[in-house]
Amino acid sequence: MREFIKPAVFLLAMVPFVLLLVRALTNDLGPDPAQELSIETGEWTLRFLLATLALTPLRQLTGQPEFVRNRRMLGLFALFYATVHLLVWMTFILGFRWFAIVEEIVERPYITVGFTAFMIMVALGLTSPKAMVRKLGKNWKRLHRLVYVAAVLGVVHLLWILRTDVSEAVLYGSIVFVLLGYRFIQYLNKKRRAVA
Ligand code: HEM
Repeated sequence: MREFIKPAVFLLAMVPFVLLLVRALTNDLGPDPAQELSIETGEWTLRFLLATLALTPLRQLTGQPEFVRNRRMLGLFALFYATVHLLVWMTFILGFRWFAIVEEIVERPYITVGFTAFMIMVALGLTSPKAMVRKLGKNWKRLHRLVYVAAVLGVVHLLWILRTDVSEAVLYGSIVFVLLGYRFIQYLNKKRRAVA
Protein backbone atom coordinates (compact mmCIF):
# COMPACT_ATOMS: atom_id res chain seq x y z
CA MET A 1 0.00 0.00 0.00
CA ARG A 2 2.75 2.45 1.08
CA GLU A 3 4.56 2.19 -2.25
CA PHE A 4 1.47 3.56 -4.04
CA ILE A 5 1.18 6.70 -1.90
CA LYS A 6 4.14 8.55 -3.44
CA PRO A 7 3.12 8.00 -7.10
CA ALA A 8 -0.50 8.84 -6.17
CA VAL A 9 0.57 12.14 -4.53
CA PHE A 10 2.71 12.91 -7.59
CA LEU A 11 -0.16 12.29 -10.01
CA LEU A 12 -2.62 14.31 -7.90
CA ALA A 13 -0.16 17.22 -7.72
CA MET A 14 0.10 17.21 -11.52
CA VAL A 15 -3.70 17.46 -11.98
CA PRO A 16 -3.97 21.29 -11.71
CA PHE A 17 -1.14 21.69 -14.24
CA VAL A 18 -2.68 19.22 -16.72
CA LEU A 19 -6.11 20.86 -16.37
CA LEU A 20 -4.61 24.29 -17.02
CA LEU A 21 -2.78 22.91 -20.06
CA VAL A 22 -6.03 21.41 -21.41
CA ARG A 23 -7.85 24.72 -20.83
CA ALA A 24 -5.05 26.59 -22.62
CA LEU A 25 -5.03 24.20 -25.58
CA THR A 26 -8.81 24.30 -25.94
CA ASN A 27 -8.99 28.12 -25.64
CA ASP A 28 -10.95 27.86 -22.42
CA LEU A 29 -9.13 30.44 -20.31
CA GLY A 30 -11.66 33.24 -20.61
CA PRO A 31 -11.24 36.78 -21.99
CA ASP A 32 -7.74 37.31 -20.54
CA PRO A 33 -5.86 33.98 -20.80
CA ALA A 34 -2.52 35.38 -19.55
CA GLN A 35 -4.10 36.78 -16.39
CA GLU A 36 -6.09 33.60 -15.80
CA LEU A 37 -2.91 31.50 -16.11
CA SER A 38 -1.09 33.90 -13.79
CA ILE A 39 -3.84 33.79 -11.16
CA GLU A 40 -4.25 29.98 -11.29
CA THR A 41 -0.53 29.18 -11.12
CA GLY A 42 -0.06 31.75 -8.32
CA GLU A 43 -2.89 30.21 -6.31
CA TRP A 44 -1.53 26.68 -6.74
CA THR A 45 1.94 27.86 -5.67
CA LEU A 46 0.50 29.16 -2.41
CA ARG A 47 -1.70 26.08 -1.87
CA PHE A 48 1.25 23.70 -2.30
CA LEU A 49 3.44 25.84 -0.05
CA LEU A 50 0.81 25.79 2.72
CA ALA A 51 0.19 22.05 2.26
CA THR A 52 3.96 21.44 2.62
CA LEU A 53 4.01 23.50 5.83
CA ALA A 54 1.06 21.59 7.27
CA LEU A 55 2.73 18.17 6.91
CA THR A 56 5.04 18.33 9.96
CA PRO A 57 2.22 19.33 12.40
CA LEU A 58 0.00 16.65 10.81
CA ARG A 59 2.68 14.01 11.39
CA GLN A 60 3.10 15.14 15.01
CA LEU A 61 -0.62 15.29 15.73
CA THR A 62 -1.51 11.97 14.07
CA GLY A 63 1.73 10.02 14.60
CA GLN A 64 1.61 9.07 10.89
CA PRO A 65 5.15 9.27 9.41
CA GLU A 66 3.67 9.04 5.89
CA PHE A 67 2.90 12.77 6.00
CA VAL A 68 6.54 13.87 6.07
CA ARG A 69 7.65 11.24 3.55
CA ASN A 70 5.93 13.36 0.90
CA ARG A 71 7.04 16.75 2.24
CA ARG A 72 9.99 17.24 -0.11
CA MET A 73 7.90 16.31 -3.15
CA LEU A 74 5.11 18.76 -2.25
CA GLY A 75 7.68 21.50 -1.59
CA LEU A 76 9.20 20.88 -5.01
CA PHE A 77 5.73 21.04 -6.55
CA ALA A 78 5.26 24.47 -4.91
CA LEU A 79 8.52 25.50 -6.60
CA PHE A 80 7.34 23.97 -9.90
CA TYR A 81 4.09 25.96 -9.88
CA ALA A 82 6.00 29.12 -8.83
CA THR A 83 8.37 28.65 -11.78
CA VAL A 84 5.44 28.25 -14.20
CA HIS A 85 3.84 31.34 -12.57
CA LEU A 86 7.04 33.34 -13.14
CA LEU A 87 7.40 32.08 -16.73
CA VAL A 88 3.76 32.97 -17.55
CA TRP A 89 4.38 36.50 -16.28
CA MET A 90 7.71 36.87 -18.11
CA THR A 91 6.40 35.44 -21.39
CA PHE A 92 2.72 36.26 -21.77
CA ILE A 93 2.48 39.45 -19.73
CA LEU A 94 5.87 41.09 -20.32
CA GLY A 95 6.81 39.43 -23.65
CA PHE A 96 10.31 38.53 -22.42
CA ARG A 97 11.44 42.17 -22.39
CA TRP A 98 14.31 41.89 -19.94
CA PHE A 99 14.45 45.57 -19.11
CA ALA A 100 10.72 45.63 -18.27
CA ILE A 101 11.10 42.46 -16.17
CA VAL A 102 13.92 43.96 -14.06
CA GLU A 103 12.07 47.28 -13.82
CA GLU A 104 8.87 45.60 -12.53
CA ILE A 105 10.80 43.51 -9.98
CA VAL A 106 12.51 46.65 -8.65
CA GLU A 107 9.66 49.14 -8.86
CA ARG A 108 6.43 47.25 -8.18
CA PRO A 109 6.27 46.27 -4.51
CA TYR A 110 3.91 43.28 -5.05
CA ILE A 111 6.27 41.88 -7.70
CA THR A 112 9.31 42.53 -5.46
CA VAL A 113 7.61 40.60 -2.66
CA GLY A 114 6.59 37.71 -4.97
CA PHE A 115 10.06 37.55 -6.45
CA THR A 116 11.68 37.45 -2.99
CA ALA A 117 9.39 34.56 -2.03
CA PHE A 118 10.36 32.81 -5.26
CA MET A 119 14.11 33.25 -4.58
CA ILE A 120 13.67 31.74 -1.11
CA MET A 121 11.83 28.80 -2.65
CA VAL A 122 14.65 28.31 -5.20
CA ALA A 123 17.22 28.28 -2.35
CA LEU A 124 15.13 25.71 -0.45
CA GLY A 125 14.65 23.58 -3.57
CA LEU A 126 18.37 23.58 -4.35
CA THR A 127 19.23 22.51 -0.81
CA SER A 128 16.50 19.88 -0.54
CA PRO A 129 18.42 16.78 -1.77
CA LYS A 130 19.58 14.39 0.99
CA ALA A 131 23.25 15.11 0.24
CA MET A 132 22.64 18.82 0.96
CA VAL A 133 20.81 18.00 4.20
CA ARG A 134 23.92 16.09 5.35
CA LYS A 135 26.33 18.76 4.10
CA LEU A 136 24.56 21.68 5.78
CA GLY A 137 23.91 19.87 9.08
CA LYS A 138 22.27 22.18 11.65
CA ASN A 139 22.26 25.08 9.17
CA TRP A 140 19.85 23.13 6.95
CA LYS A 141 17.08 23.42 9.53
CA ARG A 142 17.82 27.12 10.04
CA LEU A 143 17.73 27.77 6.30
CA HIS A 144 14.54 25.78 5.78
CA ARG A 145 12.71 27.82 8.42
CA LEU A 146 12.67 30.48 5.70
CA VAL A 147 9.77 28.54 4.19
CA TYR A 148 7.58 30.46 6.67
CA VAL A 149 8.95 33.76 5.34
CA ALA A 150 8.12 32.61 1.78
CA ALA A 151 4.56 31.75 2.85
CA VAL A 152 4.05 35.11 4.61
CA LEU A 153 5.46 36.95 1.56
CA GLY A 154 3.13 34.90 -0.67
CA VAL A 155 0.13 36.09 1.35
CA VAL A 156 1.38 39.71 1.34
CA HIS A 157 1.82 39.44 -2.46
CA LEU A 158 -1.77 38.21 -2.74
CA LEU A 159 -3.12 40.92 -0.41
CA TRP A 160 -1.37 43.55 -2.51
CA ILE A 161 -3.01 42.24 -5.70
CA LEU A 162 -6.56 41.78 -4.45
CA ARG A 163 -8.36 45.05 -4.57
CA THR A 164 -11.90 44.49 -3.31
CA ASP A 165 -12.34 40.92 -2.03
CA VAL A 166 -9.75 40.09 0.60
CA SER A 167 -11.47 36.92 1.89
CA GLU A 168 -9.08 34.61 0.05
CA ALA A 169 -5.99 36.37 1.41
CA VAL A 170 -7.56 36.27 4.89
CA LEU A 171 -8.11 32.48 4.54
CA TYR A 172 -4.53 31.79 3.39
CA GLY A 173 -3.18 34.26 5.96
CA SER A 174 -5.11 32.53 8.77
CA ILE A 175 -3.64 29.15 7.76
CA VAL A 176 -0.09 30.60 7.89
CA PHE A 177 -0.92 32.22 11.26
CA VAL A 178 -2.16 28.92 12.74
CA LEU A 179 0.87 27.01 11.42
CA LEU A 180 3.29 29.64 12.73
CA GLY A 181 1.44 29.70 16.07
CA TYR A 182 1.76 25.92 16.34
CA ARG A 183 5.53 26.10 15.74
CA PHE A 184 5.86 28.97 18.26
CA ILE A 185 4.04 27.03 20.99
CA GLN A 186 6.32 24.07 20.26
CA TYR A 187 9.36 26.33 20.58
CA LEU A 188 8.13 27.70 23.94
CA ASN A 189 7.47 24.18 25.26
CA LYS A 190 10.95 23.07 24.22
CA LYS A 191 12.53 26.07 25.97
CA ARG A 192 10.51 25.42 29.14
CA ARG A 193 11.63 21.77 29.18
CA ALA A 194 15.26 22.79 28.68
CA VAL A 195 15.06 25.13 31.72
CA ALA A 196 13.27 22.58 33.97
C1 HEM B 1 8.38 34.98 -9.12
C2 HEM B 1 7.89 36.14 -8.84
C3 HEM B 1 6.43 36.43 -8.98
C4 HEM B 1 5.84 37.26 -9.88
C5 HEM B 1 6.55 38.07 -10.93
C6 HEM B 1 4.41 37.22 -9.65
C7 HEM B 1 3.46 37.93 -10.36
C8 HEM B 1 2.10 37.79 -10.27
C9 HEM B 1 1.11 38.39 -11.14
C10 HEM B 1 1.43 39.33 -12.30
C11 HEM B 1 -0.11 37.97 -10.73
C12 HEM B 1 -1.48 38.31 -11.37
C13 HEM B 1 -2.01 39.60 -10.84
C14 HEM B 1 -3.32 39.97 -11.46
O1 HEM B 1 -4.37 39.55 -10.96
O2 HEM B 1 -3.29 40.66 -12.47
C15 HEM B 1 0.09 37.10 -9.61
C16 HEM B 1 -0.91 36.48 -8.93
C17 HEM B 1 -0.71 35.66 -7.84
N1 HEM B 1 0.50 35.29 -7.28
FE1 HEM B 1 2.31 35.83 -7.96
N2 HEM B 1 4.14 36.35 -8.62
C18 HEM B 1 5.35 35.84 -8.18
C19 HEM B 1 5.56 34.94 -7.17
C20 HEM B 1 4.56 34.38 -6.42
C21 HEM B 1 4.76 33.44 -5.35
C22 HEM B 1 6.12 32.90 -4.89
C23 HEM B 1 3.52 33.13 -4.86
C24 HEM B 1 3.14 32.22 -3.73
C25 HEM B 1 3.90 31.90 -2.73
C26 HEM B 1 2.55 33.87 -5.63
C27 HEM B 1 1.19 33.85 -5.43
C28 HEM B 1 0.25 34.47 -6.22
C29 HEM B 1 -1.18 34.29 -6.06
C30 HEM B 1 -1.88 33.46 -5.00
C31 HEM B 1 -1.78 35.03 -7.10
C32 HEM B 1 -3.25 35.08 -7.42
C33 HEM B 1 -3.95 36.33 -7.05
C34 HEM B 1 -5.43 36.22 -7.35
O3 HEM B 1 -6.08 35.26 -6.91
O4 HEM B 1 -5.91 37.13 -8.01
N3 HEM B 1 3.21 34.61 -6.57
N4 HEM B 1 1.45 37.01 -9.34
